[in-house]
Amino acid sequence: MNGGLAGKRVLVSAGPTFEDIDPVRFIGNRSSGRMGFAVAAAAVEAGAEVVLVAGPVHLPTPDGVQRIDVRSAAQLHDAVLGALPADVYIGAAAVADFTPRAVSEHKIKKTAGSDTLVLELVRTRDVLAEVAAHASRPSLVVGFAAETHDVERYALGKLEAKRLDMIAANRVGVDGSGFESAENALDVYWPGGKRALGPGPKTEVARQLIHLIQKQMTA
Ligand code: CTP
Repeated sequence: MNGGLAGKRVLVSAGPTFEDIDPVRFIGNRSSGRMGFAVAAAAVEAGAEVVLVAGPVHLPTPDGVQRIDVRSAAQLHDAVLGALPADVYIGAAAVADFTPRAVSEHKIKKTAGSDTLVLELVRTRDVLAEVAAHASRPSLVVGFAAETHDVERYALGKLEAKRLDMIAANRVGVDGSGFESAENALDVYWPGGKRALGPGPKTEVARQLIHLIQKQMTA
């Protein structure tokens, strides 16, 4: 333990969310949760008190972490906002941007004569932006951006639009980076600076990110 985050409360969200359609179906995404879990573990190593809000993943809880399991974007929202105040929020969860307007009480059946099914989706609340605008705003709010192209442009756009202190962009859909890989490479941006981390094991990249966060807190 290097102790750089001793006395700090770090709140991390990780994993996907599952948005139920009916009792047997949901809309999910390919987030494994591994990057967020590695970030939580690295924050514990740095001496922080860590609360991890985890979407539906099959991963062991890192030692020393207080874990709150959730399923949907709405549950993740309530758990994260309910865990404030914190000194740092790291939004590593791949939160669904849209959820079905209503969950069907019964399994949706095929209808004779119809080849299509229309699902009406509504926007979810942006947890990261709400944390950044909260009355108990953490001193450092860090977002993640999963981008397939124009990584820097989109990452900087989110940094500003959501009023973040830092954003870690990973390029999904390329080898050695992203959702289902044990390795990752991040391009981290903050107002006036940027740094490339990795490629390397997610555990190592997470330690480097926590190190950058520590430096930013004392800057
Ligand atoms: N996020 C969130 N709540 C949401 C959606 C996203 O807190 N409802 C957070 C994620 O945890 C991540 C960041 O926002 O830290 C970026 O999410 P992403 O889905 O990549 O970006 P969006 O802002 O939703 O933009 P787009 O889908 O257009 O890429």
